[in-house]
Amino acid sequence: MSALTKLNTITLAHHLMAQYIKEGDVCIDATAGRGFDTAFLCELVGENGEVVAFDIQEDAINSTKALLEERGLKAMVYLESHTKMNTYKIAESVNGIMFNFGYLPGGNHSICTQAASSIEAIEMGLDLLKKKGVMSLCIYHGGDTGFEEKNAIMAYLKDLDMKKYTVVVSELYNKPNHPPLSVFITKDK
Ligand SMILES: C[S@@+](CC[C@H](N)C(=O)[O-])C[C@H]1O[C@@H](n2cnc3c(N)ncnc32)[C@H](O)[C@@H]1O
Repeated sequence: MSALTKLNTITLAHHLMAQYIKEGDVCIDATAGRGFDTAFLCELVGENGEVVAFDIQEDAINSTKALLEERGLKAMVYLESHTKMNTYKIAESVNGIMFNFGYLPGGNHSICTQAASSIEAIEMGLDLLKKKGVMSLCIYHGGDTGFEEKNAIMAYLKDLDMKKYTVVVSELYNKPNHPPLSVFITKDK
């Protein structure tokens, strides 16, 4: 396990995903955005794996496809809400899912993930995960984002069946202005 050069919410999520996801696995990027997580997952699963990415904005889909092309990577990238991810042809069950909530960097801040649909998609994602599968969540709060989504997601996660899931929350504790939370979930049963 190599040390992180910079410890933040995203590098921590990537670091943890990389401990579990291997060549040939099936992964979902539930919030494609500018495509960095999609590209990261493609590199983890390699040519024999499969990555499916969703976003509701054309800007995000175009960015993600452009990044993948630039890096010579392949994924199925859909202009679709993550609440519909179980209607797509995804291999029987999934090894890993990443959510990076909030708005598209460099995009319209008013188009962002919402508490109710985010929880619906997390729940759906947990169902899609196979045993020993993992999910990472980067949760922003404060500022333009407010607290509603973060509070709703954290309340939902608190009640997840402890026999079935392990939920770890990391916080950049000494950073100002409501730093994002990094959540990592393993499906144990
Ligand atoms: C913080 S960005 C994601 C960053 C991205 N993972 C990356 O590596 O660049 C959040 C994204 O979630 C998308 N989004 C908002 N609601 C969504 C939904 N219901 N389904 C899928 N994507 C959604 C936004 O359009 C935005 O692009």
